[in-house]
Amino acid sequence: MTTETFGRAESLKIVSAHDEWVQSLGVPIHEGYFIQDLRKLELGPWAERECNAAFLRLAGQEGVSEARVTEIPPGKTLPKLKMGFDEIVYVVEGGGMTRLWANDGSHERTFEWSDHAMFRLPRDCWTQLSNMRGDKAVRLLHFNFLPVGMAANPDPDFFINNPYDNPGLLGEPGEETFSKAKEVHVAEGFYPSKGVMYYYWSGNFFPDMKEWKDLTPLFGRGGGGRTVYVVYPKSKMTCHMSVFPSGSYKKAHRHGPGVIIVIPDGEGYSLMWEEGKEKVVVPWQEGSVFVPPNKWFHQHFSTGTVPARYLAFHSPKQFAGQAETIEDRAKDQIEYPDEELAVRELFQEELAKKGLATKMPEGAYLDPEYEWAYTEEL
Ligand SMILES: [Fe+2]
Repeated sequence: MTTETFGRAESLKIVSAHDEWVQSLGVPIHEGYFIQDLRKLELGPWAERECNAAFLRLAGQEGVSEARVTEIPPGKTLPKLKMGFDEIVYVVEGGGMTRLWANDGSHERTFEWSDHAMFRLPRDCWTQLSNMRGDKAVRLLHFNFLPVGMAANPDPDFFINNPYDNPGLLGEPGEETFSKAKEVHVAEGFYPSKGVMYYYWSGNFFPDMKEWKDLTPLFGRGGGGRTVYVVYPKSKMTCHMSVFPSGSYKKAHRHGPGVIIVIPDGEGYSLMWEEGKEKVVVPWQEGSVFVPPNKWFHQHFSTGTVPARYLAFHSPKQFAGQAETIEDRAKDQIEYPDEELAVRELFQEELAKKGLATKMPEGAYLDPEYEWAYTEEL
């Protein structure tokens, strides 16, 4: 056997360091295209973390992002934990408290949260999560880029409970770094031609994504959708939440892997497909999670009685998908006049099953530049 053929054969057997670590834990791993309801997902014991948990390994994660679910029993506090990476936590259900501190006990921060909250656990500080209620378990969805980190250093001890300390991430003493997020306006926006200032929210704690009202029209993506963009201070992680009315749907688009989508409210479905291939239907409701695979088109349809909300945790910038020219970017979105007729027919059928009718304006199917009036209260 030559060195070259041996190298190839061996490299085919290599499992990513993160996959290897997750498999070694014996915690349930859920695969497929989507999770229907995180509130009912089967979990199993994770002895070291003293809780029940499960990992998601959905088709589109593709070794980029980690998603896992943790349950905290009523009244219980989990063991303290330090992570060498930022982590976003979404509260699927339940109420509790987060405590953060530096190695020497300084910079202590505590904040309470309840259903549909979202917060960041900063890297390199001690974190501890408690269930504040005596009658109901907490379920949390955790999101991070650990698989990318472990590709560079496969030793989990480098990332978990490493003594390295960075108290500056918790803010200066007395600074309210975990109170309400701040609105940040950016003069150079996505849509200056429409006279709309682009802005995002910066913060570590968002109390309720199901009730969040500060949204701005997402021109160009259709469906009457509005969005909030979120950045986390001193972190490279970002997310956004889109809200769009019942009876409407967004344009199909595609990008890179690793974007995890969770539904805080609404009902509907998404289509996901590789160009020229059969479409996968992903039904969703509150508590659903799905991940569009790398460069697969995906399109979101709202068929409930209330506006649909989806919260998308972004992958690292370098996985977003690159485009050299405007023409390339145009290839990554399908305008309504160019979409297959079957797409809107399925939407009408799905609405009819619920006694609802489409609210898609006729003009949207005629003019690729069509824009919603954004007068409807969401
Ligand atoms: Fe997307």
